[in-house]
Amino acid sequence: MAAELIATTATKSVFRDGEKAIKVFNADFPKADVLNEALITARVEEVGGINVPKVLEVGVFEGKWSITFDFIEGKTLQQLMEENPDKLPDYMEHMVDLHLNILSKQCPLLNKLKDKMSRQILDTEELGDITRYDMRTQLDSMPKHTKLCHGDFNPSNIIVKEDGTMYVLDWVHATQGNASADVARTYLLFCLEDQNKADMYMNLFCKKTGTAKKYVQSWLPIVAAAQLSKKRPEEADLLQQWANVCDYQ
Ligand SMILES: Nc1ncnc2c1ncn2[C@@H]1O[C@H](COP(=O)(O)OP(=O)(O)OP(=O)(O)O)[C@@H](O)[C@H]1O
Ligand SMILES: [Mg+2]
Repeated sequence: MAAELIATTATKSVFRDGEKAIKVFNADFPKADVLNEALITARVEEVGGINVPKVLEVGVFEGKWSITFDFIEGKTLQQLMEENPDKLPDYMEHMVDLHLNILSKQCPLLNKLKDKMSRQILDTEELGDITRYDMRTQLDSMPKHTKLCHGDFNPSNIIVKEDGTMYVLDWVHATQGNASADVARTYLLFCLEDQNKADMYMNLFCKKTGTAKKYVQSWLPIVAAAQLSKKRPEEADLLQQWANVCDYQ
């Protein structure tokens, strides 16, 4: 493959091959998860009105499953935030607007966020039986919505083209559910790096939508508990702390 490696994580590598981006999963990566990512992305493409790199192909590369997408030329919003800290308020404003555009859409064939979170909490054994029971009861009582939720909305999953157009990647965690839950997740993801960015994001979302901050905060322990099930070691300590803060109500 005359392809250039552009990103690696513990479970996959991303290559550029001309106009294509090829995501190659490690050999032990579950086939169903690869096919699921391609399917969810295809469903989101069909929603329309969101810039998403299109799925071009699902295949096998050197014995490993791969998904080929349109390559989007540009920088991730994360890179831009690092390179131009003075422009942070502007970038945050665009990022919240992009999130609101996604949350204004419906994608009825995706899984329900509440079902997914309930399953994830059940799987997170380190929380203990009582906490898991309390969280699932609380989750049950939260309002039901069917907004398109990205599930991992953070600046590394946004590519900004030279003309400023933003593309959103990495739809594998997308579901339909409550906007504030998706915003609580973005808040937590920012907290892992920078509390100031997290607060900016939360404040902007609440201001633009007239949502009470307490309401978004009420999702934090549940979202943290669900996020723990992704078993990302770098997130474990902070998420465990958040999952144990149940006194927001
Ligand atoms: N279609 C694309 N066009 C351009 N760059 C891409 C494309 N897909 C991925 N990349 C680059 O590769 C990086 C990682 O890709 P992606 O976010 O899809 O996977 P990931 O972060 O490893 O997945 P996950 O968050 O599920 O672990 C992106 O931050 C981006 O820099
Ligand atoms: Mg990513």
